[in-house]
Amino acid sequence: RHGARIVLDAAQLVPHQAVDIAALDVDWVAFSGHKLYAPFGSGVLAGRPDWLRDAQPYLAGGGATRKVARRADGRLDVEWHTAIAARHEAGSPNVIGAYAIASACRALTEAGFDRLADRERQLLAQLRDGLAAVPEVRVLSLFGPDSARVGVLSFVVQGWNSSHFAAALSAEYGIGVRDGLFCAHPLVRTLLDSAPDEPGECGAPDAAPGERSLNAIRVSFGVGTPDEHIARFLAAVRALVREGARWNYVTENGRCVPARD
Ligand SMILES: Cc1ncc(COP(=O)(O)O)c(C=O)c1O
Repeated sequence: RHGARIVLDAAQLVPHQAVDIAALDVDWVAFSGHKLYAPFGSGVLAGRPDWLRDAQPYLAGGGATRKVARRADGRLDVEWHTAIAARHEAGSPNVIGAYAIASACRALTEAGFDRLADRERQLLAQLRDGLAAVPEVRVLSLFGPDSARVGVLSFVVQGWNSSHFAAALSAEYGIGVRDGLFCAHPLVRTLLDSAPDEPGECGAPDAAPGERSLNAIRVSFGVGTPDEHIARFLAAVRALVREGARWNYVTENGRCVPARD
C-alpha cells in the first residue's frame, strides 16, 4: 500500500529450511554463507533485477565502471555498468566464496530439507520440553509457542545476566551459545520488556536474583546435532540454575569471561 520494500534477513533461516522468495512475497533476501556451512567471507543478496540495475554500485572500482571520462572543467565523469553482476562487483569477485555457497546449497538440497526439518522438529521438541521443566527459564517468542520454528531458540534465565550464563556454559561445560541482541536490537529489547536504549552488554555479570537480563541467550543446532547434545545442554542449564557457576567471571572489553585467578 505504501510501496515499502521488504528485506528478509534470512541468516538464521536458510540453514534450516528451503526458502522460496516468491512464495514468501518479500523483495530482498540476504544471508551469510558461513551460517550455511560455507567458509566465512561471502554472502547472498537476492532481489529484483531492475532494482539492482538502478542501485548505486555496492563498491566503486574497476569492473563496475563502464566509462571514465574527463570533463572540460577537468573533473571526472563515471558511468557505471548496467549489467547487474558487473555493476555490483568492483574488483575481482570472490569466486571461491560464491562457489562454496553454491556447493553448500546444493549439498543441503540433495540431503533433503524435509528430512532436515523433521529431525529439527524432534530435537526442538526435546529442547523445549527440557527447558519447560526449568521454571527459571523463559523462552522468547515473537509469534507464540505454537508458531512454526526452526532449530534456533532464544531464552533468558531469571536472576542471571545472559552473558554470564553463556560464558559459564562455554567455560564450564564446553557448550557454545550466543548471547546478545542477535542483530535485531529493538525487537529483542521488546521481547525482554527493556527500554529501547538500555545497554545489552555483559555489564554486570552478577545480576541479583530476580533481576532482569538486558540481553538474551540463543541456542541453535544444525545438520549434525545428535540427541546427546540436547541432553548435555539441558543438564548444563539445570546445573547452572540449581548450583550456580563454579568459576568467577569478569567483564573484559564488554564481554563476560572467566577471571584469570
Ligand atoms: C539474523 C542475523 N542476521 C545477520 C547476522 C550477521 O551475519 P554475519 O555473521 O555474516 O555477520 C546474524 C549473525 O548472527 C544473524 O543472526
